[in-house]
Amino acid sequence: MKKIIIAIDGHSSCGKSSLAKALGEAIDYTYISSGDMYRAVTLYFLRNKVNINNPEAVAEALKNIQLEFKRIDGQNRIFLNGEDVSEEIRSMPVAEWVSPVAAIPAVRREMVRQQRLMGEQKGIVMDGRDIGTVVFPNAELKIFLTADLEERARRRYKELLENGYDVEFEDVLQNLEERDRIDSTRADSPLTVADDARILDNTNLNREQSLAKALEMYRETLAALEAQKEA
Ligand code: CDP
Repeated sequence: MKKIIIAIDGHSSCGKSSLAKALGEAIDYTYISSGDMYRAVTLYFLRNKVNINNPEAVAEALKNIQLEFKRIDGQNRIFLNGEDVSEEIRSMPVAEWVSPVAAIPAVRREMVRQQRLMGEQKGIVMDGRDIGTVVFPNAELKIFLTADLEERARRRYKELLENGYDVEFEDVLQNLEERDRIDSTRADSPLTVADDARILDNTNLNREQSLAKALEMYRETLAALEAQKEA
């Protein structure tokens, strides 16, 4: 069966990662969260007090960062210079700094380079903000996932509480709003809907229903590619 690239972009916390992961598992594709990469870079910057306004310091830091994904017990884990940081990258300090860090062109250039290498073999589902527009403009299937802000904040709040983080709903909501604003207005690779993306609003859909919709889009894409080949 022909393997394709599936790009899933959308607003903060609308379930891109869980959808991308479930879809990857359902069709046996590799799943990569590009957001985890930006979060891991942010964690490194915070720990090492890298001044994000100093281009030399940023360039130097990027040289010292090595990122790796590993599958452990069926879970995708991200390693920063050999250390598993999958939990720590979800903390609020990282959430507060990730959008400013991800707006730095040098950071984006390096992440995009690594992401394209990962996509060379196809058979990949990657989620983020610029996957269908910048990283893989030729992706065969592009899904733009979205949901109402309040609903997204409720989901993230619940997830943070479940993971033992002591947070206020208002702070989570404000963080999402602020990240949406920065992500959509930055000069380099802003969050936009690719012309050929299919919009999936999951405000009123649960995980299973979202996955069912995405699978339907995947099958339609394969059928359309087959039809093109025969024509
Ligand atoms: O999981 P959540 O939707 O909260 O965000 P994420 O996918 O973990 O991404 C965290 C942040 O990284 C986003 O708010 C963006 O600022 C940035 N990001 C980006 O700029 N480009 C990407 N391809 C992915 C994430």
